[in-house]
Amino acid sequence: MPLRRVQVTDFRCLQSAGLELDSRFTLISGTNASGKTSLLEALYVLGRGRSFRTRRLEHLIRHGAEQFVVFGEIESPDRRIPVGVEGTTAGVRAKVAGAKTSSLAELALLLPVQIIDPEVHRLIEEGPSRRRRFLDWGVFHVEHSFIGHWQRYNQALKQRNAALKSRLPRTVVSAWDRDLLEYGSLVSNARSRYVTLLTRHAEVIGRNLLGLELELSYGPGWPRDRSFAEGLQNSWAHDQESGATQVGPHRADLSIRLGGLRVKDRISRGQQKLLAAALLISQVKLFPETAPVQPCLLLDDPAAELDDDRLAGLIREVSTQSVQLIVTTLHGEFPAFGTPGRTFSVNAGRVEAL
Ligand SMILES: Nc1ncnc2c1ncn2[C@@H]1O[C@H](COP(=O)(O)OP(=O)(O)OP(=O)(O)O)[C@@H](O)[C@H]1O
Ligand SMILES: [Mg+2]
Repeated sequence: MPLRRVQVTDFRCLQSAGLELDSRFTLISGTNASGKTSLLEALYVLGRGRSFRTRRLEHLIRHGAEQFVVFGEIESPDRRIPVGVEGTTAGVRAKVAGAKTSSLAELALLLPVQIIDPEVHRLIEEGPSRRRRFLDWGVFHVEHSFIGHWQRYNQALKQRNAALKSRLPRTVVSAWDRDLLEYGSLVSNARSRYVTLLTRHAEVIGRNLLGLELELSYGPGWPRDRSFAEGLQNSWAHDQESGATQVGPHRADLSIRLGGLRVKDRISRGQQKLLAAALLISQVKLFPETAPVQPCLLLDDPAAELDDDRLAGLIREVSTQSVQLIVTTLHGEFPAFGTPGRTFSVNAGRVEAL
């Protein structure tokens, strides 16, 4: 179900941009600071309810405006479903088929959107929270109950941490342990199943892109040879001392090995980019098997920092996926991707069809 017509209003430098996307491949070209990333960011916000560049909504609203609006039409076999998000400094609200939704999840399910941008190496280089977000988005699209379990886990965690911070006795703090363990185990098991699914594709794509064996494993956020209950029990002194729960899925990580070695700090920037891209492409590749929607893959300036051979490998890998591809480039064309169904140029925040 591709995203077709898009209208972006007061988003970053884009005052009013309308475009009809191709269902397979759209190319967007423009010079530095013309608004290419902003356009992809608007599409990302439509599918995710948040940006990949900032947490602060005021950065997304065009200077001088009070809110941004991104509207789109998703093509289903028999009709186009209108979807939209509007953002003010207070938050983002979503609409699907004209009706306000109670959560952003409803829209997110219709429009899975993933991005490979010049900052993609941060998935490998930075701390575990990015990798948890990466996993959780994928799990959510495979197991829709995940989001509810994750919310219940977080509620219990917040309450338990508040009790720890107030130095309340163990009996009071432990009142939250039942929910913490129940929902934490559901979250953890779902992530672990997802890593197993992802591994099948990641191994192949990792080998294709990097020529090395890629291994993934899920670290649950407590010692792997213990249960969550045991981990929680053993961490009491530490929890009490620090005033926060030290074990659980909120401390989980995706461990990554390349050629038998842990990747952090050991591989070049180009390799980090390819490795992160391999993970993101694997995630997108899982869609036809696990969800009835076609994902939209955004590639922001994919040529940045990659040599010709590596870029060709990335393009080969991306081009064989069943996705709606939207690519930005500094140049007027990108022949390695083949002929785009639609091409746009962006100039000082104005988008024009070519
Ligand atoms: N909230 C905002 N309101 C107005 N303009 C903004 C806002 N946020 C960012 N901009 C401006 O938008 C312009 C375009 O930024 P963007 O990152 O989209 O460019 P780009 O085409 O991706 O450039 P590059 O090729 O360098 O990556 C920048 O000049 C930036 O200063
Ligand atoms: Mg950019």
